[in-house]
Amino acid sequence: MAQFNESDARRRLADNGQEHVFQFWNCLNDEGRTVLLGQIATIDFPLMNRLIDDWVRHEPAPETFRSIEPVPTIPIPDPARADAKAAWDAGEEALRAGRVGLLLVAGGQGTRLGFNGPKGAYPIGPITGKSLFAFHAEKIKGLQRRYGCVLPWYIMVSATNHAATEAFFRENGFFGLNEADIRFFEQRMVPCVDESGRFMLEGPGCLAMNPNGHGGTIPAVVENGIAQDARNRGVDTLSYFQVDNWAVQVGDPFFIGYHVQRKAEMSSKVHRKNSAREAVGVHCICDGEYRTIEYSELDIYPQLLETAEDGSLLHFAGNPAIHILDVGFIERVCSVYDRFPWHRAHKKIPCVDEAGALIKPATPNGYKFETFIFDALRFIEHEPVALEMNRVGHYTPIKQFDGANSVQAARAAMRAYWGGWLEAAGARVPRDASGAVTIDIEISPEFALWQGDFVKRAAGMAFPEDGAIAIAADGAFVAP
Ligand code: UTP
Repeated sequence: MAQFNESDARRRLADNGQEHVFQFWNCLNDEGRTVLLGQIATIDFPLMNRLIDDWVRHEPAPETFRSIEPVPTIPIPDPARADAKAAWDAGEEALRAGRVGLLLVAGGQGTRLGFNGPKGAYPIGPITGKSLFAFHAEKIKGLQRRYGCVLPWYIMVSATNHAATEAFFRENGFFGLNEADIRFFEQRMVPCVDESGRFMLEGPGCLAMNPNGHGGTIPAVVENGIAQDARNRGVDTLSYFQVDNWAVQVGDPFFIGYHVQRKAEMSSKVHRKNSAREAVGVHCICDGEYRTIEYSELDIYPQLLETAEDGSLLHFAGNPAIHILDVGFIERVCSVYDRFPWHRAHKKIPCVDEAGALIKPATPNGYKFETFIFDALRFIEHEPVALEMNRVGHYTPIKQFDGANSVQAARAAMRAYWGGWLEAAGARVPRDASGAVTIDIEISPEFALWQGDFVKRAAGMAFPEDGAIAIAADGAFVAP
């Protein structure tokens, strides 16, 4: 990236109506000036002008479709079904052959959770305080041991959390994984704009910028040499997951199996929506093209709310943001990344006033622009692969502390999920009148990845009769 000098930067800003970015220049020291010039050098001005024109000065008309069909889905895998058994075998074969890598997106700002640190460092374990990153790492260790393979772990971060994320891994000894098999890479940032389309300053010498959304994975994987690293290792299949989904089945053999058997380019898991208006995106086929429509657009496309005669939702396929991407597909789609739609979010963005004092707004005062990974689905040329899954044990995203999709909901899901495992292994698990498990439970994914494994490995274990239960990677009980 070219570094601008002061006059280049001033000219570029003036040409694009953003000269106010220099208003505090005279108060900045050399270091502050270098930081600001560095930020300006990363800005794609033609793109920003287009976004400001399309989304701030005007309101784009929603797309119209002649037809919106439900996406064809593969039912929840049941090993008693021949297709599921064959998919499992194919998935295991791909894992053993070292064809699979892991693509974690962890570049977001995690504003709703409000945790002081990268979201993946959040201590989600109710008993051990183990972080989200640690849970993901233990799953990876469990898979590597089971399949005798290396699963390179590619972790997308952003300028907002890169240093802190790497430091957290280092402090934790890379969670026992081989450092050489973990690669952090940065996504691009885009300036935030106020309601009149002016770039915002979060400090006198610093633009307010946000990571370019999880869709930014596509160029970031290519530009940072991740696709090439995968190819060099013989990896062609990347299992994509999001840092805040504690429950995700990283490298799920069923999912990988369906993907590789069908030579898919990008596959998705889907879950049944709880209600027509549940706040999740919906997978569907619009005029023959695979799309995920955001819940905020449900009223634009009311077909998505329709039910069948038995009352069931026709468009039930909710989006848990779990995908598999073929490396070649990422490279191909990267060349058309400029055709990805941008999405606008109206947010409360801390910024400085004319005197340089920080304002924390109480109501939304500006816009963030992002691209989304699911918009890559429109570029697939093969049959869609949309695999239905249960939520419990697969999808418990943590967006906030309390309420829906929260830390509290994730801990309740842990109790329900692992409570079932303990009962299957013969333990007595206390439940309340509604059937909800009443003790905290944590089982290291390194000890057991799935219930069947757990029941085998836990044979003969004497479980505590009361109180919380935490089981470590080696099967030892961890004191609460
Ligand atoms: P969310 O859209 O929930 O955003 O990201 P967030 O940043 O975690 O939280 P809020 O909206 O600020 O409260 C879903 C996943 O996508 C990643 C996040 O790190 C999370 O794993 N993500 C999101 C990125 O990697 N980059 C982005 O630009 C945005």
